Amino acid sequence: MSQTIAFIDLATQRDRIRDRVEARFSRIMDQGSFIMGPDVAELETKLSNFGGMAHTISCASGTDALLMPLMAWGIGPGDAVFVPSFTFAATAEVVGLVGASPVFVDVLPDTFNMDPAHLRRTVEEVVAKGQLKPRAIIAVDLFGQIADYPAIRAVADDHGLRLISDAAQGFGSTLDGRMAGAWADVVATSFYPAKPLGCYGDGGAIQTDDAALADVLRSIRVHGGGSDKYDNVRLGLTGRLDTFQAAVLIEKLTLFSEEIEARMRVAARYTAALSGIAAPQAIADDIVSTWAQYTIRVPDGRRDAFMSSLKEAGVPTVIYYGKPLHRQTAYRHWPVGGNGLPVTDRLCDEVVSLPMHAYLDETTQDRIVAAAQAALG
Ligand SMILES: Cc1ncc(COP(=O)(O)O)c(C=O)c1O
Repeated sequence: MSQTIAFIDLATQRDRIRDRVEARFSRIMDQGSFIMGPDVAELETKLSNFGGMAHTISCASGTDALLMPLMAWGIGPGDAVFVPSFTFAATAEVVGLVGASPVFVDVLPDTFNMDPAHLRRTVEEVVAKGQLKPRAIIAVDLFGQIADYPAIRAVADDHGLRLISDAAQGFGSTLDGRMAGAWADVVATSFYPAKPLGCYGDGGAIQTDDAALADVLRSIRVHGGGSDKYDNVRLGLTGRLDTFQAAVLIEKLTLFSEEIEARMRVAARYTAALSGIAAPQAIADDIVSTWAQYTIRVPDGRRDAFMSSLKEAGVPTVIYYGKPLHRQTAYRHWPVGGNGLPVTDRLCDEVVSLPMHAYLDETTQDRIVAAAQAALG
């Protein structure tokens, strides 16, 4: 068996920023500014500039970043929030946590992102049944690719729904040069270490242009505090990002645009080599993806053999996602749009992700491609 390749390499990037991060850590230690220290405010300003949105509220995780806007809007029992089922659990979990009902929508077979036509039909179904009140949509930028926000926004506007971008994987992704905040009311992201912009623990952020919402989110972040420090005005969380993580992110942000370009190059080489023999996630020409994952479809029950063959060649692969949310134990009692989610079901049987990171050199990538070609040939 050949030497195993890393699925994701965080060490090369760490070595680039280590001195600067350690200098920041040392200052935080000297100051004792562990909670809401100056690095947190500095990061929020820099993220607002990067994302082109007026307000950034950093928080403790990507899950909190999705949960907090639902809390701020008072979404709860009797309300419906439309989400994909082909995603990480947190997208739907937060809806259940506030007592509302996730309603699962199918995705497109080529981009793997929310299908706007299926979304529209599903919203209309819920309206016609009259049991739940449609309140919001959470669209996911799956594997780094920005969702079809112009079409999804149109559905949201026609039905008076809020739109959240779950940009945990796709923060920094653009459509026609614009990020999700050009269409979404709120952009929520995660800084989990393996994300394209990750920290060294848990973290997240919410972005919005709505100043009143931003104030409520800041209150929710610290137990619903109000202007009188002895009077908490709403329910909230211990939702802060800690100062050490902000310090890491400030330094990582300096490399982020360059790393997105590097990921685009790696993805383009994969796609050129594999398009004829597998079906990679399709990306339109006007999209820049952050390529959190590089994912192909291996149909006809050949995925297991494909993965074993790559493993033998020292190439790790991972399945994102093997079981759709609407079939998982905690989620299967919630409604599904239309007559089921055939595309989602099929993708879960076929998808497999290859090693992807900004520091994947061409020689290593050629080894991965050769192993994939041999397995598919
Ligand atoms: C699509 C998606 N949404 C939400 C999350 C939740 O982020 P976190 O793990 O930071 O809570 C993740 C990642 O873990 C994710 O991939």
